[in-house]
Amino acid sequence: MNTKSEVLKILEENKGKAISGADIANSLHLTRTSIWKAINELKEEGYKIDSSTKKGYVFSGDNNKLSGEGILAYLGKDLGDIKVLYKDRVESTNKDLLELAASGEKDIVVEAASYQSSGRGRIGRKFESPEGGIYFSILLNMRGVDFNRITIITPMAAVAVARAVEKLTKKSVGIKWVNDVFIDGKKICGILTQASIDIETNSINSAVVGIGIDFQLKDKDIPSELKDIIGTIYREDETPLISQNELLANVVNELVYMYKDLTNKAFLREYISHSIVLGKEISFDLNNNHMEGVAIDIDDNAALIVRLQNGEEIKLNSGEVSIKISK
Ligand code: BTN
Repeated sequence: MNTKSEVLKILEENKGKAISGADIANSLHLTRTSIWKAINELKEEGYKIDSSTKKGYVFSGDNNKLSGEGILAYLGKDLGDIKVLYKDRVESTNKDLLELAASGEKDIVVEAASYQSSGRGRIGRKFESPEGGIYFSILLNMRGVDFNRITIITPMAAVAVARAVEKLTKKSVGIKWVNDVFIDGKKICGILTQASIDIETNSINSAVVGIGIDFQLKDKDIPSELKDIIGTIYREDETPLISQNELLANVVNELVYMYKDLTNKAFLREYISHSIVLGKEISFDLNNNHMEGVAIDIDDNAALIVRLQNGEEIKLNSGEVSIKISK
């Protein structure tokens, strides 16, 4: 990290509190002049930093820009090495990390962006990714893990998002099987897990978990036909209580804790307790047939158990379901 990044990380860690130039200089083993220069550069980039000769620098709580340093400031210190990359604009963070995995990257890597021009959604769809959302992917090295275990990663990520959003925003969250996170009946997050597989051994090489969170979307960026479906954690006119960096890092913390204990399926209890489909009438497509039934359970591999109208019970391992609106 260069001096500016190191100073930004310290300011993020002390958000809202005064910290003197001398203290920053001491902890980085640098001169006060170099700290002062870095602070001025950050101010020029638009960060709000109040300086007073008596107290020092205060990084204002209003600073709410995603940055690699800001994410690092909130990552769990006991998680081991996690590389963090931040880019203002990308085509797709999933695309970037799949390429990185193919080039032989072995570490856990997070790539975050404030805008994606070709965000990838499930079932080959485009995921609209305007400014105001948090778009990130996490590369997990899962070499040798049986391919069948991949279905557990998306529900794990949904629980990670639910935990982080509920803890930080105090809003209640619902999970729509398999990968959508809801607040107040509207989707605020989608998850897409993509993996590279070794077909000889039927095992995973690496998995990229992509998460898009509607943090504070502008009204104009939600198409009018989707206004009842797409939500945003904070409305345009609200002042967020938390920073984007803190939310993103908390999701990563929660997911990496679970990933490090991959055989522990305790998280499924939270997945089930947050489910907004269980007990509901649903419809879905299976092998080109449109089907209807009631979602009755979620099993140990996060498959959805559905009772069809003829009483037969079937298991959905993947796919997408719609909840029928009762008339
Ligand atoms: C869906 O709801 O269809 C899944 C959407 C997943 C979107 C995220 S945003 C970050 C990451 N990069 C992508 O291109 N897609 C995922």
